[in-house]
Amino acid sequence: MSLFRDNVEKLAAYVPGEQPQETGWTKLNTNENPYPPSPRVVEAIQRTATGRLNVYPDPLGKSFCRAAAELFDLDPDWILPANGSDENLTLILRAFADSKDLVAYPYPSYILYETLAEIQGARFARLRLNADWSWNFQQNKPLIAAAKILFVPNPNSPSGNRWDDETIRSLIPPDGVLILDEAYGDFTDNPHKMELLKSDGNRQLIVTRTLSKSYSLAGIRFGFAVAHPDLISGMRKVKDSYNCDAVALAAAEAAIRDQDWMLSNRQKICASRQRLDEGLQALGFNTVPSQANFVWATHPTRSHFELYEQLKGRKILIRYMKFQNESRPGGILDGLRITVGTDDEVTHFLNTLREIV
Ligand SMILES: Cc1ncc(COP(=O)(O)O)c(C=O)c1O
Repeated sequence: MSLFRDNVEKLAAYVPGEQPQETGWTKLNTNENPYPPSPRVVEAIQRTATGRLNVYPDPLGKSFCRAAAELFDLDPDWILPANGSDENLTLILRAFADSKDLVAYPYPSYILYETLAEIQGARFARLRLNADWSWNFQQNKPLIAAAKILFVPNPNSPSGNRWDDETIRSLIPPDGVLILDEAYGDFTDNPHKMELLKSDGNRQLIVTRTLSKSYSLAGIRFGFAVAHPDLISGMRKVKDSYNCDAVALAAAEAAIRDQDWMLSNRQKICASRQRLDEGLQALGFNTVPSQANFVWATHPTRSHFELYEQLKGRKILIRYMKFQNESRPGGILDGLRITVGTDDEVTHFLNTLREIV
């Protein structure tokens, strides 16, 4: 006899990327930033840690909300801080979906959306993308129309491509909410300043951002959602009272107030991304032009899993990913997702890969 809810009993848990805790790895598997966070973040953490840790933090993180609102020229009640972007995705499921609702997302993309829908007990649908990572509106229209929640990562993962604003606008479900997951938004050529939210239809759109990638704070766990206050206040009802701790709130505020630091790291990463992409192509890989801090690469003849294993044997970690696709040989679409590291890491990765292939 199982005491778990049926959907939890049947659930295959989401498997995050490997996180080796010993040093010596070239870690290019979970899209972390290879550069440290702003020194102002470290100061803010130290100040908080020597301050009043015996009292609870501000449940609404108002000081962070003010800083984020200034950045996007919005009012602070448009912002919801969370313990990582993943927490905001969970809050969205909790706030908007019950068992009769349909949760949809493009496939292949971020599989956690599906796991979260299963945990919530909602129905889910995979919206199969075309081979060139564009949307197949013809095929997916009925599912988009029926969705209560449509999650769209833009840029997408694992492909790194970015859909234009017109495509995004056309994806808003008529009776549902579109979640624009901009985890990698800062690495694009033209990062959004929440323009889509400020235009019509904004009561059906929520943008999520994370500080794990562009702000180098994956170890802190902090993300935030941006949406019309009607949507934010509904989401607040279902969060833990103190979902963000005092150290994370202080670190996040210092990070987003130091835009120069983030932008200078972003620029280095975008330059290394180009070197990585060109290096992979020179070794016979096909790549997708990336607007994120990773590159999706496939090889016409070599086994992607073996390449991943051979690199791992040499202490280089990248992500091997596979997805179901009935129109492909063996019913599988697979490939390698490589995070853009420092220039030295990219050189080491490309040299090692050259020896292998
Ligand atoms: C598309 C996408 N959304 C959200 C997240 C989660 O971000 P966070 O670290 O803030 O939970 C990730 C992390 O890899 C991601 O790839």
